[in-house]
Amino acid sequence: MAGAAVATGLEGVVATSTKLSMVDGQAGELVIGGYPIGELAGKVSFEEAATMLWRGALPAKEDAPAIQKELASYRALRPETLEIIKTARNAPPIDALRMACATLSLDVSNPNDISPAGDLALAKRLTARFPTVVAAHARLRQGHDPIPPRSDLNLAANFLYMVFGEEPHPAVAKALDTYWVTVMDHGMNASTFTARVIASTRSDMVSAVTGAVGALKGPLHGGAPGPVLDMLVDIKSAEKAEAWLSKELDAGRRIMGFGHRVYKVRDPRAEVLARTAEEMAGADLQNRKLYDLARSVEKTALRLLEQRKPGRNLKTNVEFYTALVLQSVGLQPDQFVAMFACGRVAGWCAHVTEQHAQDRLIRPQSEYTGPRGLTVGKR
Ligand code: COA
Repeated sequence: MAGAAVATGLEGVVATSTKLSMVDGQAGELVIGGYPIGELAGKVSFEEAATMLWRGALPAKEDAPAIQKELASYRALRPETLEIIKTARNAPPIDALRMACATLSLDVSNPNDISPAGDLALAKRLTARFPTVVAAHARLRQGHDPIPPRSDLNLAANFLYMVFGEEPHPAVAKALDTYWVTVMDHGMNASTFTARVIASTRSDMVSAVTGAVGALKGPLHGGAPGPVLDMLVDIKSAEKAEAWLSKELDAGRRIMGFGHRVYKVRDPRAEVLARTAEEMAGADLQNRKLYDLARSVEKTALRLLEQRKPGRNLKTNVEFYTALVLQSVGLQPDQFVAMFACGRVAGWCAHVTEQHAQDRLIRPQSEYTGPRGLTVGKR
């Protein structure tokens, strides 16, 4: 297209309207389904919050057990899916999840049904099965058989049971549940946009979510918390933070867990997860040491970023404390982005449903910068 201004990263472009979530980057506010994030996370279960996104309103408290039971009934994986996870057992968990995700419609009679009912059926299956896939992968790569899901535990507790083989402490399951609610939806982020672009072609839910998993994996989106933990482990003690961070910045590298395309103040999800990380640190000496180190690294990083990039407002983002919360529940850094996907899948499914209802092909234009008028004869 000639003449139009190019917005390479689509900053400031309003590509659609949504009732699902609102991100106010200046005020540091995240609203999901009408609720500020601090009002939802830790107060309603992930299953209830997911149902809210799919139905448009929080279910009544007395419906929560039935909702949990219904979602639990979809947790088991088909042998074909388990076979793929087995084949991919040495691949990173997020890649195994992407491969397995594409198979999660095998038991649905018409996976191309993009009516609200068809979308809801797949939303429930994908959200119920993502944790089963990640847990099966965790077991298989350690040379163990996957542990079949239990239906008497909530999604978070059952995931931890399938990974570790024993029922988790309620506080640990609660931390994971809070994390999943905190990250379940976040406006027009890259993976959600990817899902919506795919859905806008009238393609199906599983195709859209498989694409979204691929978009989430990159370190500029969901792949940051693993490197955050690696950074804290490498820094080791508060007094070494300044030198470590300065070296990274001198080399032109980015500090993981800081900066955000939309937030110019502290990410409100960092606030929620910092509290969860602190609760998890509790009396556990190792977790407490890491938490204290993280607080001090955060302070130093914010100071250095302000010095090096004045006016850029590079503040702590969700991934910084995600790393601490997921580490404290016993997970490995390379599993973190797959954990993110287990929460965000509820939002992706809601956006795909919304996009199907809007039924408008997303098709922007590009500025052509290549040559013109070439003829094959001049090669
Ligand atoms: N560490 C160091 N410098 C950073 C930075 C970080 N974490 N985040 C941004 N910057 C710098 C950029 O290098 C750029 O500097 P320059 O203008 O001198 O070249 C400036 O700040 C603006 O960066 P820009 O890339 O335009 O910001 P963005 O809005 O496109 O980037 C992120 C947003 C999230 C991609 C970016 O902040 C980042 O890479 N953060 C680290 C990864 C991370 O935590 N991702 C999880 C996001 S939830």
